[in-house]
Amino acid sequence: MKITFLGHACLAIEVAGKNILVDPFITGNELAKNIDVHTLKADYVLITHAHQDHILDVETIVKNTGATIVSNYEIVMHYGAKNFKGHPMNHGGAWQFDFGKVTYTHAVHTSSFPDGSYGGNPGGFIIETTEGNIYIAGDTALTMDMKLIPLQTKLDLAVLPIGDNFTMGTDAAALASDFVQCNKVLGYHFDTFGYIEIDHDKAKKVFADKDKELILLEIGSSISI
Ligand code: NI
Ligand code: MN
Repeated sequence: MKITFLGHACLAIEVAGKNILVDPFITGNELAKNIDVHTLKADYVLITHAHQDHILDVETIVKNTGATIVSNYEIVMHYGAKNFKGHPMNHGGAWQFDFGKVTYTHAVHTSSFPDGSYGGNPGGFIIETTEGNIYIAGDTALTMDMKLIPLQTKLDLAVLPIGDNFTMGTDAAALASDFVQCNKVLGYHFDTFGYIEIDHDKAKKVFADKDKELILLEIGSSISI
């Protein structure tokens, strides 16, 4: 499984011969100006919640690729009304896709669309594949529900928000990595706006002090698990 960081909370995942994009927000992100949204491949677009900084480029990408939108019921209905195809889920539910099993997890956050319309309740995703298992937390606070995840899944990587203010910061994210029992963390949702700018070395040290690894990727670069 190859995971490419496309800035903010946007990830491109290649697994089992499929391309998955998560929370595309590229054209609104000055830091991601070297990423061309029109060259991105997608069989699926996973959306954690309806906030602008997670959905801005969904329609462009789905029009270009014909990808299937996977998200909560309300978000899939919103795009369904615009004739985009989707697969609706809700919290705690899992579905076996052709690349692996996806579970929609609980997140403590909000989820309105930019026009204020209802975007369901926010979530995250567990993706279990023959190439490894990852948890993408979405925008969330630290929550006790994270402790349920290792009861069901052995994770190889946790993707956690670390920018603070709108989500967990690094201290809470380090606790979250304890809760999900995963020592390898990819940080996201940081540096995009003034409210979420972080000190990278300080953030890495919070994890290193617990014998954990915090990976902070340059936009456009990748890791493999
Ligand atoms: Ni949000
Ligand atoms: Mn966000």
